Amino acid sequence: MAKERIPIASDHAGYELKQHVAAALTKLGYDVEDIGTHSPASTDYADYAHPLAEKVERGEVARGVLLCGTGLGMSYAANRHAGVRAAVAWTPEIAALARKHNDANVLVLPARFVSEEDGVAILKSWLETEFEGGRHEARVKKIETAPKEGA
Ligand code: RB5
Repeated sequence: MAKERIPIASDHAGYELKQHVAAALTKLGYDVEDIGTHSPASTDYADYAHPLAEKVERGEVARGVLLCGTGLGMSYAANRHAGVRAAVAWTPEIAALARKHNDANVLVLPARFVSEEDGVAILKSWLETEFEGGRHEARVKKIETAPKEGA
């Protein structure tokens, strides 16, 4: 069976943890596509969040991983893409709930606030937890169908 391709990207603040998490993903048997950044030099998180989120939006990949200092900038940019549900998770429990209840298809790690060990534990929890569906199905659908102002 072909390995699942998982893109990963960070800015400078997430660079070191990205290297660690990408190695862990490879070890877990995934085909990791590292779309940058490729050094600790200062960069803008949106330049990496958008290309990764576009892959998810287009259905090229089912899921992806982003990292920045707080996780916030990356999540703001990724969540502008249709069908993308990017969740900042700082514990394995939050990552599991982001899957179970919110069907998060992008994991965002706050690199300045989690250790390498925690980062991998959060990653594994997100990778291994299924969406529960049921009552959460309609709630997740409503994310994409928010009424427009004046409608
Ligand atoms: C970079 O200093 C930092 O602002 C960025 O990584 C991220 O935390 C933004 O949301």
